[in-house]
Amino acid sequence: MDRTCYCGALRARDVERRVVLCGWVHSRRDHGGVIFIDLRDREGIAQVVFQPEKSDIFASAEKLRSEFVLRVEGLVRRRPEGTLNANIPTGEVEVVAEALIIINACPALPFEISDYTEASEELRLRYRFLDLRRPAVQKNFIFRHKILQNVRAFLSAAGFLEIDTPMLTKSTPEGARDFLVPSRMSPGAFYALPQSPQLFKQILMVSGFDRYFQIAKCFRDEDLRADRQPEFTQVDLEMSFVDENDVMQATEGLLAAIFKEALGKDLELPFARLSYDEAMLRYGSDKPDTRFGMEIADLCGELKNCQFKVFAQAISGGGVVRGICVPGGEKFSRSEIDGLTSFVAAYGARGLAWMKVTANGPESNIVKFFSAGELEGIQGKLGAKAGDLLLFLADTPAVVAQGLGALRLKLAKEINLIAEGAFNFLWVVDFPLLEWDKEEKRWSAMHHPFTSPRQEDIPLLDRPEDAGAVRARAYDIVLNGVEIGGGSIRIHREELQEKMFSLLKISSRDARERFGFLLEALTYGAPPHGGLALGLDRLCALILGEESIRDVIAFPKTQKAACLMTGAPGAVNPRQLKELEIKIITPPPLTNPS
Ligand code: AMO
Ligand code: AMP
Repeated sequence: MDRTCYCGALRARDVERRVVLCGWVHSRRDHGGVIFIDLRDREGIAQVVFQPEKSDIFASAEKLRSEFVLRVEGLVRRRPEGTLNANIPTGEVEVVAEALIIINACPALPFEISDYTEASEELRLRYRFLDLRRPAVQKNFIFRHKILQNVRAFLSAAGFLEIDTPMLTKSTPEGARDFLVPSRMSPGAFYALPQSPQLFKQILMVSGFDRYFQIAKCFRDEDLRADRQPEFTQVDLEMSFVDENDVMQATEGLLAAIFKEALGKDLELPFARLSYDEAMLRYGSDKPDTRFGMEIADLCGELKNCQFKVFAQAISGGGVVRGICVPGGEKFSRSEIDGLTSFVAAYGARGLAWMKVTANGPESNIVKFFSAGELEGIQGKLGAKAGDLLLFLADTPAVVAQGLGALRLKLAKEINLIAEGAFNFLWVVDFPLLEWDKEEKRWSAMHHPFTSPRQEDIPLLDRPEDAGAVRARAYDIVLNGVEIGGGSIRIHREELQEKMFSLLKISSRDARERFGFLLEALTYGAPPHGGLALGLDRLCALILGEESIRDVIAFPKTQKAACLMTGAPGAVNPRQLKELEIKIITPPPLTNPS
């Protein structure tokens, strides 16, 4: 390779140096007989000057178009006074071209290779190879690389062994739908792609590896959103002979190392912890965004005897009345408040009560129903002051939490309560072990069925009617209102694991068929163990301030789980189907990529 340095690496110290640069034509400008090319590579842009005196290469330079690939040889000089560009790191210098090789041409582009492209995401994903050339996009992947290197260095130094686990495996129990892979050797049988390495990492603990980690690809066939991809990456870890605090401490250490190395930021450790119940009460969410206040306050005590029927009946019927105080919200118009009412309706709320706090006290259509003492009580609990808007929901605790939780987030964005650049970490702990599945009329595991209950709650497992009160030894880590990871201390005794399956109405036979290897392994001397997995894509997106994890995944899928560049998923050759003994009932309306 005869390139002497990256385009983006040129500095004033290189003046008088003869260099060879290789890169892409970012832009071309003709200026009174002189041609300027911005030549781009991974590290940045260098200005190359073609002068008419060098008539042979000048003629070639006239043919250059965007994204042609060049090899340029020349002499670095200081840019003439008045033409320095302080906006780019190479802006003090330019290369006077002495030789030019056009290595490759490029047709007209579907969109400009620029950080400020207006091209639709669909078009950019279709031409992802071009989209990935955009400097802002490249920066994300260079950053992701750094994080991965930090993860490996930190965990390896902390005694974790990197061990990879299979992709072709059996169904794993994270609760999403599996991606299945048909087996040719055993027609009619299927592998499942792992939803996580959960069972394998537990087996590795039984095998005595003590501390494991993996940068693991996980596959979940679920409805996609900005922070969900069918295929994503976890930093997965597991430890033996530990309790919750050990796993949380290791995770905090890892995140602190990442922030220090990649961002030069010192995180304050340990992170705050909040119980699940408190998170639901104060933030209406199990992943609270704590970058701003506007906390939910429970008003049942203050309002249980009030004359407003909607509230009094909700409380006497076992529901709750809770509210939030929107700072400066007095200026909201009636139609804006109506808009908020329809917003919460999507969460099942049957209305939205409100009061404006004016200099003369609270005002609204319902103020007349409350005594002076009640109004004072409400304002005190919500910390209201003149100029604020108070919003209330009366319903079941779940509807109120969802409605006010979502309203809190929406309003904080709208009235700019969220500090830019803040990173608020939070552990959510003391999750319930089980949640009631209304449709299937049975308990299901809130995390996964291998999560250990708290020792003191184990007796409740024998009384299915009380099982909802059993707490899990589980913890989630939340950053700025996004769940970036979760884990638990696991069940390490077979009897307890069997009991858990029976509570979940997973029959003994079914459990043996699906997880028999784990149950068996647990009988052969399993150490106590626990771990956690961080969603790497979410973590990178949050640190980089990207809205979607698609921006930190090199080849992401669309909302419909398609790859617009390769055309996956696609139809396959009939011979392949025959080998697999698979018959397609309704052929898909897809074009065959081959
Ligand atoms: P969990 O299912 O909570 O735990 O996943 C861990 C973290 O992975 C991220 N994540 C996702 N990221 C992008 N797209 C998705 N579809 C997606 N699903 C999950 C989230 C989440 O917090 N085996 C357990 C971990 C353990 O118990 O050790 C597990 O997978 O950030
Ligand atoms: P109504 O008595 O139906 O005229 O309602 C009076 C006010 O109470 C309106 O602003 C409604 O939006 C509001 N409201 C009705 N039901 C609820 C509820 N479950 N929670 C909060 N506010 C409600």
